[in-house]
Amino acid sequence: MNAVDVGSLDDFVSGEARQLHVGSRTLVVVRIDDDVYVLDDRCSHEEFSLAEGEVDATNATIECARHGAIFDLKDGEPQSFPATRPVARYDVLIRDGRVEVVVP
Ligand code: FES
Repeated sequence: MNAVDVGSLDDFVSGEARQLHVGSRTLVVVRIDDDVYVLDDRCSHEEFSLAEGEVDATNATIECARHGAIFDLKDGEPQSFPATRPVARYDVLIRDGRVEVVVP
């Protein structure tokens, strides 16, 4: 396990999704208030970028911009069709105002 610093918490706008590259991975990072969620940036339906989707900050979900599947940011599980498989999620550490993503 490796905790990779991806920036300051203040670098991320609450309620917005942003694509980041960490090593060979393409991730989507979403800050909601003081929490940060990280998933693989690849919809499990047809591999579209989730970073282009819409964040629902109240429910901590993201909706794929391509066909509308909704994923829970907390665990990557799909909450609606057409996606039926989860998206990988990553643990996040926030230390001294810095955001670190734990990658295997
Ligand atoms: S590619 Fe995401 S819902 Fe189809």
